Amino acid sequence: KKVVLAYSGGLDTSIILKWLETVYGAEVITFTADLGQGEELGPARDKALLLGVKPENIFIEDLREEFVRDYVFPMFRANAQYEGLYLLGTSIARPLIAKKQIEIARKMGADAVCHGATGKGNDQVRFELGYYALEPDITVIAPWREWDFISRTDLIAFAEAHQIPIAKDKRGEAPFSTDANLLHTSSEGKVLEDPAQETPDYVYSRTGNPEDAPDTAQYITIDFERGDAVAIDGVALSPASLLAKLNDLGRLHGIGRLDLVENRFVGMKSRGMYETPGGAILLIAHRGIESLTLDRGAAHLKDELMPRYAELIYNGFWFAPEREMLQAAIDHSQQHVTGRVRLKLYKGSVNLVGRESPWSLYDQDLVSFEEGGGYDQRDAEGFIRLNALRLRTLARRAARGEKK
Ligand code: ARG
Ligand code: SIN
Repeated sequence: KKVVLAYSGGLDTSIILKWLETVYGAEVITFTADLGQGEELGPARDKALLLGVKPENIFIEDLREEFVRDYVFPMFRANAQYEGLYLLGTSIARPLIAKKQIEIARKMGADAVCHGATGKGNDQVRFELGYYALEPDITVIAPWREWDFISRTDLIAFAEAHQIPIAKDKRGEAPFSTDANLLHTSSEGKVLEDPAQETPDYVYSRTGNPEDAPDTAQYITIDFERGDAVAIDGVALSPASLLAKLNDLGRLHGIGRLDLVENRFVGMKSRGMYETPGGAILLIAHRGIESLTLDRGAAHLKDELMPRYAELIYNGFWFAPEREMLQAAIDHSQQHVTGRVRLKLYKGSVNLVGRESPWSLYDQDLVSFEEGGGYDQRDAEGFIRLNALRLRTLARRAARGEKK
């Protein structure tokens, strides 16, 4: 068997690598993606070599631009938030990793793919729905659901027996479990498991404490073209560099922290802590430019579809036809979502303070309290009378009922 493993270079996936080689008897191909998690990838290569992977079986790819351009930006066109708050930072990365694993499997003639997600979470579903959607007959190996280790101690013993390097702080339980990419860092488990307890300061890695943020507000502008951010303060940037720049601004001003209890697809509630500095700014900015350029009917329909779209991404259905149908509708709505917004960043908050667009539907003459703009106030009387017709009929019936 030849297996393509989604390999981070961390302890858990290193154990999985050795387990595949020794227990499963497989030839392992490692795939390590740079999604902007902020870690050097060189050590992942060294570690794979050290663990016996052939050099030609090690794949390392910089996916930052593809991730932001083809996954993060399309999702932000929808203003997607799961359960009203979560910006889906982990959820949106899984389909891309799955797609790359399948591509490598085809190229290398591998018959199986493997991931390091546990049997209790969302990530297993997202990886595997991605695999099966793209390669229906692939064999999927999910070691966490298969192996006989029952405790962290077992895992560490296995690592030691196979000369897998273990960082000092990983010998005991890690204090929490994280996932990071250009869009966000998530932390779950361990010290965070009691939802009544406030997240300790040391959990945060991507944002400063808003209480320690600068005392003066910072103003920035973001330019949009057809729903995608293209420039900050008038400087054009690629998707990944734009998001990285927003992350720096968000970190400085303590923007984008979220403490959430959410419903996992597998049925349980879990408590997570998310840091999405750039994404939090981008969402407000995008809603700001839409407020000027989208028709009411289109805007409200988008907002109705959004929870459905967000849930599809959360549950791992990125490659499903219903997600693509919604995406087509959302993308169509963005034709005129072009222009500039001005934002004020201050101690954890993002406020939209100005917006302008060549495609603006905002008509100052029309809305002004001064007369004019082709609006006749007398028309409103009939408009209200007809809309009130039902309500008056109902009220009259209610009054009859009371008399009986
Ligand atoms: N609860 C979040 C989600 O389902 C984050 C998952 C984090 N994954 C991880 N491997 N630590 O999208
Ligand atoms: C995991 O279970 O591997 C992480 C959490 C999740 O996928 O929801």
